[in-house]
Amino acid sequence: MRLYPPAYMMFREASEDVAIGGYRIPEGEKVTVPQFHVQTDPRWYDDPETFRPSRWLAGLEDDLPDYAYFPFGGGPRHCIGMPFAMMELKHIVTTIAQAVDLELLSDPDPGFAPGLTLQPADDVRVRVSK
Ligand code: HEM
Repeated sequence: MRLYPPAYMMFREASEDVAIGGYRIPEGEKVTVPQFHVQTDPRWYDDPETFRPSRWLAGLEDDLPDYAYFPFGGGPRHCIGMPFAMMELKHIVTTIAQAVDLELLSDPDPGFAPGLTLQPADDVRVRVSK
C-alpha cells in the first residue's frame, strides 16, 4: 500500500484560482496527486524503497504529516471502500499465510505497468505448498 499503491496517482481540476504551497493554480488547471512518489519520499520515510513493514510498528503513521501516506485518497472523495478493503486484506493475507507456504520464483522486482491501477510489468510466479 505504501511502495506499490494500487491507486498510484489521483487527478484534480481546480474549480477556482488557488495557491497551494506557494504555487498558483489557475481555475481549470489539472493537478496530479501522486501517492507513488509521495509515499517513497525520503523526507517522510527512511530507506524509502525498502519493504520493511516493521517501520509502522512504532506509531510512524501518527508522526507523519497529513497526506504523506494516503493509499485511499483523502477529502470528500476518500475511498468509501477503505474499511472493507482493510478488513479483506487482513483476513485474506493472514488466512493464506497460515494455510500455505509461498516461495517467490520470479524476479523480486518485476517492474511496473501503470494502468488504471498499478500492476507488475512481468508475471509474478509463486510456488504454493502446504
Ligand atoms: C486496496 C484497495 C483499495 C484502494 C487502494 C482504493 C483506493 C481508492 C482511492 C485512492 C480513491 C479516491 C480516488 C480519487 O479521489 O480520485 C477511491 C475511491 C473510491 N473507492 Fe476505493 N480503493 C480500494 C478498495 C475499494 C473497495 C473494496 C471499494 C468498494 C467496496 C471501493 C470503492 C470506492 C468508491 C465507491 C470510490 C469513490 C468515492 C467517491 O468518489 O466519493 N474501493 N478508492
